[in-house]
Amino acid sequence: MGSSRWWRAKASPSMKLLLSMLPLVLIAGLVSFKAPSLCNWDFIAKQREGDHAMVADIAFNYSSSPSPPLHVHQSKEAEVLNVTKPWFNAAPVNESDEPPLRQKQKRKFNILDRTEAILVQARAAIREARKGNQTQDPDYVPVGPMYWNAKAFHRSYLEMERQFKVFVYKEGEPPVFHNGPCKSIYSMEGNFIHAIEMNDQFRTKDPKKAQVFFLPFSVVMMVRFVYERDSRDFGPIRKTVTDYVNVIAAKYPYWNRTLGADHFMLACHDWGPETSFSVPNLYKNSIRVLCNANTSEGFNPAKDVSFPEINLQTGSINGFVGGPSASRRRVLAFFAGGLHGPIRPALLEHWENKDEDIEVHKYLPKGVSYYGMLRNSKFCLCPSGYEVASPRVVEAIYTGCVPVLISEHYVPPFSDVLNWKSFSVELSVKDIPRLKQILMSISPRQYIRMQRRVGQIRRHFEVHSPPKRFDVFHMILHSVWLRRLNFRIPHHQ
Ligand SMILES: *[C@@H]1O[C@H](CO)[C@@H](O)[C@H](O)[C@H]1NC(C)=O
Ligand SMILES: *[C@@H]1O[C@H](CO)[C@@H](O)[C@H](O)[C@H]1NC(C)=O
Ligand SMILES: *[C@@H]1O[C@H](CO)[C@@H](O)[C@H](O)[C@H]1NC(C)=O
Ligand SMILES: *[C@@H]1O[C@H](CO)[C@@H](O)[C@H](O)[C@H]1NC(C)=O
Ligand SMILES: *[C@@H]1O[C@H](CO)[C@@H](O)[C@H](O)[C@H]1NC(C)=O
Ligand SMILES: *[C@@H]1O[C@H](CO)[C@@H](O)[C@H](O)[C@H]1NC(C)=O
Repeated sequence: MGSSRWWRAKASPSMKLLLSMLPLVLIAGLVSFKAPSLCNWDFIAKQREGDHAMVADIAFNYSSSPSPPLHVHQSKEAEVLNVTKPWFNAAPVNESDEPPLRQKQKRKFNILDRTEAILVQARAAIREARKGNQTQDPDYVPVGPMYWNAKAFHRSYLEMERQFKVFVYKEGEPPVFHNGPCKSIYSMEGNFIHAIEMNDQFRTKDPKKAQVFFLPFSVVMMVRFVYERDSRDFGPIRKTVTDYVNVIAAKYPYWNRTLGADHFMLACHDWGPETSFSVPNLYKNSIRVLCNANTSEGFNPAKDVSFPEINLQTGSINGFVGGPSASRRRVLAFFAGGLHGPIRPALLEHWENKDEDIEVHKYLPKGVSYYGMLRNSKFCLCPSGYEVASPRVVEAIYTGCVPVLISEHYVPPFSDVLNWKSFSVELSVKDIPRLKQILMSISPRQYIRMQRRVGQIRRHFEVHSPPKRFDVFHMILHSVWLRRLNFRIPHHQ
């Protein structure tokens, strides 16, 4: 965790009072206070009324196995989720291990069997799609080298739309739970949480129908309301998460059933990974959807999901999407930004004011528009700052500028589906001195192809409210769906 980012924490004195109350609020669920709505979705609050936590029916008898071991059959291959080969050529789940679909006859509790059967069918359909014809789609048909396997992705996406059900735990109160920022660089926390809570298609109110379970907390909100500013004490955040998992594990059978493996959390804040360390099973077993997808900090591409940091300054993408064609971009490469983190100093040292084709600045000259520069550049440099993820990647994609990812240990968003090499340039830090040479070696024809692909995959990074098919909300869900397809929960007798 980049300690220099502690300044991001903001907690006013009055909020500090609230901190001590939070665990109580969480557990008792009696106190209710209204947080200032950060998203302009007033109808959210209405929907939540009458949405009281339901008491889960106990579908399984745990007294026979007091501390169930993790029976989840996770695939051994790390790249199983890559929508290219391993996943679609080799069964990640040994199919001969699958529970026989028709043998559940008089079993007392067969809800789990039904859920698993849906997944068995989905896996088969996705495997089949590799060989088959392209499926029709009224909105969008994924085609091209931007996808590891476009047909398999499309089939998987359609299966998700048909079958995928998410249960969102109702416990917890705003501002920390069921809430999150919808603006600024961490906007995706709030956008996702609100979008899933309002969703009728994927969200189920019946946990027995769910394939995955969502823990609806916002790390940004914890940093703002639970963390004591400048204290450098992670304890209050750790306690909030631990209390929450204890509450849902005591109240429902689902957490204990898999020790969290069919549960997911989502965090765009830099402290997302640190927050997940609060509960060992959350870190080890759960699907962690993170902007800060740093493999050196334990990000595991086979289990976790990398999603994009999107700086929504106005809360909307309107006015930020679109840019001129390749021939009208006069600057070879552009970057403007502070010296955060270990990579940028090297970039500025080598390229600030060194070459007229390379616009690398700490500060933009007065009167120069940042977005104007993005639109005017062929390549947009996206070096990691304090953390691996950079909102510049999506800014580049929105403005039709080919992103140049300069990072280490970073798993770019949706790498399970997207082949980043086909529409971006990936540079390591040691390549920084050769930056111009590397970019110049990309032929104009090749550049035009890459730029066109940036325009094609842009839909996967767009934020819409309500969400639209194939947009960033659906891509996040799809990545979670893929992770869930990779293991099955065995039946407890
Ligand atoms: C649960 O399992 C225990 C131990 O196997 C058994 O004694 C008990 O009757 C079971 N309870 C139910 C409701 O099936
Ligand atoms: C996916 O598989 C392809 C082909 O085997 C490989 O080149 C690529 O690096 C893999 N991507 C990830 C994210 O593992
Ligand atoms: C799948 O499981 C069966 C029975 O458990 C076993 O015989 C077979 O070798 C397994 N196949 C693979 C590829 O692991
Ligand atoms: C694929 O399309 C071809 C040509 O339209 C058709 O002849 C063939 O039957 C299709 N295959 C499948 C599996 O639908
Ligand atoms: C889940 O496990 C925890 C810790 O072992 C236990 O306290 C809790 O009661 C269990 N939950 C259920 C629903 O049995
Ligand atoms: C990724 O994690 C490692 C290990 O914690 C850390 O040293 C490195 O600085 C991180 N990368 C970035 C860009 O923050």
